[in-house]
Amino acid sequence: MSAPKKLYIKTYGCQMNVYDSERMAETLGGQGYVETKTPDDADMILLNTCHIREKAAEKVYSELGRFKGLKAEKPDLKIGVAGCVAQAEGEEIMRRQPLVDLVVGPQSYHRLPEMEAKAGAGEKVLDTDFPEEDKFEKLKRRPKAKRGPTAFLTVQEGCDKFCAFCVVPYTRGAEVSRPADRILREAEDLVERGVREITLLGQNVNAYHGAGPNGDMTLAQLIWELDKVDGLERIRFTTSHPNDMMDDLIEAHGTCAKLMPYLHLPVQAGSDKILKRMNRSHTAESYIRLIERIRAARPDILISGDFIVGFPEETEEDFQATLDLVEEVKYGTAYSFKYSTRPGTPAAERAQVDPKEADDRLQRLQALLTRQQREVQDSMVGRELGVLFEKKGRFPGQMVGKSDYLHAVHVADCDAEIGDLRRVRIVSSGANSLAGELIA
Ligand code: 5AD
Ligand code: SF4
Repeated sequence: MSAPKKLYIKTYGCQMNVYDSERMAETLGGQGYVETKTPDDADMILLNTCHIREKAAEKVYSELGRFKGLKAEKPDLKIGVAGCVAQAEGEEIMRRQPLVDLVVGPQSYHRLPEMEAKAGAGEKVLDTDFPEEDKFEKLKRRPKAKRGPTAFLTVQEGCDKFCAFCVVPYTRGAEVSRPADRILREAEDLVERGVREITLLGQNVNAYHGAGPNGDMTLAQLIWELDKVDGLERIRFTTSHPNDMMDDLIEAHGTCAKLMPYLHLPVQAGSDKILKRMNRSHTAESYIRLIERIRAARPDILISGDFIVGFPEETEEDFQATLDLVEEVKYGTAYSFKYSTRPGTPAAERAQVDPKEADDRLQRLQALLTRQQREVQDSMVGRELGVLFEKKGRFPGQMVGKSDYLHAVHVADCDAEIGDLRRVRIVSSGANSLAGELIA
C-alpha cells in the first residue's frame, strides 16, 4: 500500500470555518489523505478563508505567496482555496495567484473528492456554485474516530438579513436550516466519540427552522431534543440576531439545564440612525428591552456582543450612543471592529469616516469593553461553577477547562480527566483566565 497523502488545512475566521475544515479533512480522508500540522510535508494545502474584513483576504494572498518555494520543490503539491474569499473572488484568485490549483466555495465542499482528482490530473478547478443538495449529508465522516470534549455542529447556514456592511449573504448565500433528524444523528455520533459539549452554529442560528417530525422546528425545540441525548452535558449556540430571539428560546435559557448561561447577541452600534443605515431592523431601545427579558429568564447569563465603529456617517454623538448602550448592557465578552469596506455591499458606496477618528473610537470602545469583561470575570471569584476539562495545563498536575460562562479555568493538583465536568470553586481571577479548586 502506498503511503498516505498529507493534507494541511489552515483555517481563518469564524467557528463555522473550523467546523467546515474538520468536515473537509474527514471527506478527503476518504481519498487517502491524513492531516499534517505543517505545510512543509503536505501533498495538498487548503486555506479555508474568511472575507468578513479586508485584512482577512489580504492575509490569504500573502500566505499563498509563501508557498512558492514549496511548490517549486514539489511540483505535485496541490494548493486549494476554500471559504468565503474563494466564494467572493474565485476567478480573481486564480488570476492573481497562479500557484492555486483549486478553488472551492463553502457550498461545494462535498464535491472536493472529484475536484481533488481533477487537480491531481493537472487541471485547474473552480467550483463556487450554490447547489441544492445538503452538502453535510454528502460529506464523509471518519467513523468512530475519537474526539475532544467540545465540538461545533452547523445547523443553519447563510443569511437573509443583508446588513449593509456584511458579505455573508453573498458568500454563504440564502439562509438554509438542516433537518433536525440529521443534526440529532450527528450529535449522537459526536457524543459516542467523546464529545460532552456541542456548540450549534449558524450565521443566524436563532432563525433556525429545520424540518422536524411535525413540521419546522425552532432552535429551542431542537435544543430540547438535544437535551435528551444521554452523555451530552452542555449545549451552546452562536451567532444570534436580536430580531430572531424567540420567546421559547428565551424561556429555554431559564429552564434547560444543559443550555449554558452565555449568549452572543451582536448589536453592532448604539445609535438608531446608524442601526437604520446598517439595515439592522432593531433599535438600541428594543435591544436593551430584549436583554432585560433574557436576564429575567436567566439572571446570571453572560452577554457577549459584536460592535462596528466608524460605520459610514457615524458622528461622535452616534459613537457616544454605542458607549451608552455598552454601559447599560454590561458585556461579559465582546468583539469590536473598525468598519472595513466590503466590495459589493451597500455601505461600500457611502462616505467613509476619517480612519484616524475610527481608530480613536475603537480604542475608546475597547477600553470600556475590556474593563467590563474584567469586572464580569472578577465577579466569578468565590462562586462554584461547572468546569468541563479540555486539556492539561502548563504545570504538572494542572488541568484547564471552560466554565459554564466560557471563561478559561485553571485548576492545580487536579485529578479530573479530559472530558470530565466537575464543580469548581473559583479562587482568583487573572489577566485572561480564572483559577479554581475542585469541590469534593
Ligand atoms: N467591517 C467591520 N466589521 C464587520 N463585521 C462584519 N462585516 C464587517 C465589516 N464590513 C463584524 C460584525 C459581525 C462580525 C462577525 O464581524 O460585527 O457581527
Ligand atoms: Fe452579516 Fe447581518 Fe447576516 Fe450577521 S445578520 S451574517 S452581520 S448580514
